[in-house]
Formats: sequence, C-alpha cells, structure tokens
Amino acid sequence: MKIGFAKPEQPLCGAVIVGVWEEAMPTPTARRLDEVTGGAIMRALSATPRFKGKKDELLPIVAPANLSVSRIVLAGLGKPELADAQLFQRLGGNLVAHLNSAGEREATAAVDVGEGAPIDETEAAAQLAFGAQLRAYRFDRYRTKQKPEQKASLDRLTVATAAPGAAQRAYAPLDKTASAVFFARDLVSEPSNVIYPETLAAQAGTLAGLGVSVEILDENKIRELGMNALLGVAQGSARPPRVVVMEWHGSGDRSSPPLAFIGKGVTFDTGGISIKPAAGMGEMKWDMAGSAVVIGLMRLLAARNAKVNAVGVVGLVENMPSGTAQRPGDIVTSMSGQTIEVLNTDAEGRLVLADALWYCRDRYKPRLMIDLATLTGAVVVALGHHRAGLFSNNDELADQLIAAGRAVGEEVWRLPLDESYDREIDSDAADMKNIGSGRAAGSILGAQFIQRFVGDVPWAHLDIAGVAWSSKDAPTVPKGATAFGVRLLDQFVARDYERE
Ligand code: BES
Ligand code: MN
Ligand code: ZN
Repeated sequence: MKIGFAKPEQPLCGAVIVGVWEEAMPTPTARRLDEVTGGAIMRALSATPRFKGKKDELLPIVAPANLSVSRIVLAGLGKPELADAQLFQRLGGNLVAHLNSAGEREATAAVDVGEGAPIDETEAAAQLAFGAQLRAYRFDRYRTKQKPEQKASLDRLTVATAAPGAAQRAYAPLDKTASAVFFARDLVSEPSNVIYPETLAAQAGTLAGLGVSVEILDENKIRELGMNALLGVAQGSARPPRVVVMEWHGSGDRSSPPLAFIGKGVTFDTGGISIKPAAGMGEMKWDMAGSAVVIGLMRLLAARNAKVNAVGVVGLVENMPSGTAQRPGDIVTSMSGQTIEVLNTDAEGRLVLADALWYCRDRYKPRLMIDLATLTGAVVVALGHHRAGLFSNNDELADQLIAAGRAVGEEVWRLPLDESYDREIDSDAADMKNIGSGRAAGSILGAQFIQRFVGDVPWAHLDIAGVAWSSKDAPTVPKGATAFGVRLLDQFVARDYERE
C-alpha cells in the first residue's frame, strides 16, 4: 500500500474518510462534505443513532449523491481532549481493514483535529498514516491460490492535511519504524524449515548494510567460549547453533558503555526429550520472537541513526529430541562457571539466555541489559495476550520501560523477584536447576534463573510469550506475528538515552 499526503482541496475519488467527534459532532470537513452532498452526512447520523462518534467507530455512506466518490466513511474520534497519537494510529489501522473488506482501491482520509486536542494536525496525519501502514502488513509469501476477496484491495491512501510537506516529514521516521517492525514480523512468521540458526544469523547479517557491525559466532567459537548451557539445548538438533552479536555505534563517544538487548532465538521448540504435546506445537516456530525483535530493533536504531551505542546479542538454537539430545537430569557448566541441573529440557530458553547474558556482560560491561524471550506459558496464564511480563532488578529501568510501553501501546506489567523465589531453583545436585518443584510462579522462577547471570548490571527481562503472536486482528497489528518490543524499546532508547 502506498501512502501519501496532500492538501484537502485535491479532487476526490475512491473512498473519503472524515471525522466525527463524540456526541455525533461533525468536524468542519465533515460539515463541508455534508453541504456538497445535500445533507447525506447529517441524514446518516440521524438515521444511525448507534453511531455516536466514539473512538474506533466507523459508519460508511455508500455512493453519496453529487460526488464522484464511492463512499464516505464517518470516523468516530471520541472526545477532542483525548485525541492523541494512539487514537490516530488506531484510526489509520481500522480504516485499512474496513476499506480492504469493502474492496476499495483508493482512499483519502481528511485529518481535521481542531483546537482542544493534545496533538497537532500534522502529527495526527503522520500517526494516521503510520497506523494504516502497520495494519496493512501481510505475510502471504506462501499463498499461491488467493481468491481476489482475500487479497488486499487498498493500494493507495492519501492523508489530506493543511501542511502535507510537514506531515510527510513527520511520517518519514515512522515509516522506518514500520519497516523494522515488518522485518521482525517476517522473521517470526517464517516457518522453521526456512528460518533456523544459520539462516536467522544470515538475516541479522544484512544489518551490516546499515552500518551495524555483525559478528556471527559458530559452534566452535561457542564451544571455545564455554557456552555449555546453550550448547546443551542445541545438541539434539541437526542444525548447528549460532550466536549473533550486533554493534551500533551512534553515540559521539564510541567507547561509552552500550545499551544491550539480548534475545531468545529458539527457532523451533519441540521441548526436546521433555517433549511437548502435538496439539499446537506448530506455534513453536515463533519461539525465536525475542531474537527477531532484537534484530529488528538494531535495524531501526541504525536506520534512524540513533545517537546511542547499542549492542544486540541473540542466542540461536533449535530444541529437538534425538539420540544426541540433552537428557533430563543432565548437568551442564554454563559460561559463568555456574552449574545447572537440566530437569526439564523444555525450559530451554533460560539456558540459552544464561550464556548470552553472561557473554554480553563479560564482553561489553554494558550500561544496562534488557532481554526478550517467549519464556513461559505461565505468563500467558497471568497476563493473557494484552501485556508482556516485566521483571527487573532496577526500579528506574522498570519505570522507564513501563512508560515507553504505554506511549506506544505495547504495555508491560511488572512482576516480582525476590530471594524466596530464588531459593526455589536451588538444586541438590548442582548450583541450580532449570525448573521449580511445581507449577507455581512459573514466569517468576524463569526470571529468577536468568537473574543469576546478570550480576549487578541494571537488567530487565520481558517475557513476551503472550504477546509475540496474536490470533486476533488488532487495529495496528494484523493477526500473526506482532514484533512486540521493537516499538517499545525504540521509544525507550529515544526517550531516556538519546538526549544526553
Ligand atoms: N517456548 C516455551 C514457552 C511458551 C509456551 C511460549 C507457550 C509461547 C507459548 C518455553 O520454552 C517453555 O516450554 N516453557 C515451559 C517452562 C516449564 C517447563 C518450566 C512452559 O512454559 O511450559
Ligand atoms: Mn520450551
Ligand atoms: Zn521455548
């Protein structure tokens, strides 16, 4: 879908979208269109008392008189004092879905914010375009027989606004964000016969073109480093593991300690010898979402030339059962020297992260570390699909992540860590075991395990198992891979670490 900006005076064709505030108060643009059409808008409003102009409401008026447009869509904007960036993003996304199901090919959305709103018109126009772009994402590379009605029909959206040039400039960085989000969504959507450690590492390698230095550690190097916790997970698979290290130097001072982002990249999680049930196992192709988000984030920081030093580390493995697979009860010595009794081979993400985090800390002495992982089913029980679980040893860092998540609509919820939980992963045979004794507090025990590998570095862990993939369309996220975390962490970097 192509997106453009134009003055409101442009001739209209296709669908036209105009705003209506709550209490069915038409915007000035809607009123003008009402006059042109001999009162079609006011008639539609009084004939449809259910349409109140609340946010997310849409009311189509098909083939209005006196105009060469196929339809007018009245878009509810809610209360003017609440009209913020997210309102316009959601509107853009909802419009794309609506117009696609109506079979429209072209549309013009008039942005008319007026006084009283906390956002100016130029920004609103850019945000509407951004939301539309995010919703227009599709992963249909493998669909060879789509019926016309299954295909997206909308191929051009024009946002009409008083200052199109300024809106275009405001949109440019958002377009970069959308590209990075799509890159991450693609990686997550690809099946595990296509994306496995070597091919995912090669995808990360493409960031070199943007000025990111990318280093791919192969199995020998990983062994040399002593990453036996990660290797234990990989040993059942015919696919060798990889660790990818991505460096972005955007700060004036090349040597200032970087922000570090670490991702779980299990390209397929069968559970290993502690094998998962067959039903739904196909979902475990997206057990590398944490790593895809880290790669997408690094791409975005480079694409927008972020004024910060950042490093991304992803641990890439496939968790398979086989004659060479790790057995429940095996004891491995992690890179940190700490020993781990692997009582359940399906609690593999923490084993991968243990070595990735230790390596990152050891090599970079980072200013902070944030890991992302589809770590536990338990976080889905706790928070469902609306928020990621947040764990941190640092209140300021946790608060920054909560605020950044709220700003972009990728919300996180903090859960506790403490010594009494930590004791639950003490092992009789080794320094720790990779699961607790029962099913209680599964996500917290996973986080406690990871915390044993971060030392005193300010650290946060985002358990994204519930939010990495969505089975329902949302306004700016079509069902499927969400890339949850790319926008959140980009916002976090921009707000709290680039202005210094
Ligand atoms: N990748 C899974 C977690 C997961 C489950 C992600 C469902 C998305 C949806 C992880 O490796 C796992 O298997 N975790 C176990 C941990 C348990 C054995 C302590 C789990 O959640 O059951
Ligand atoms: Mn698992
Ligand atoms: Zn897993």
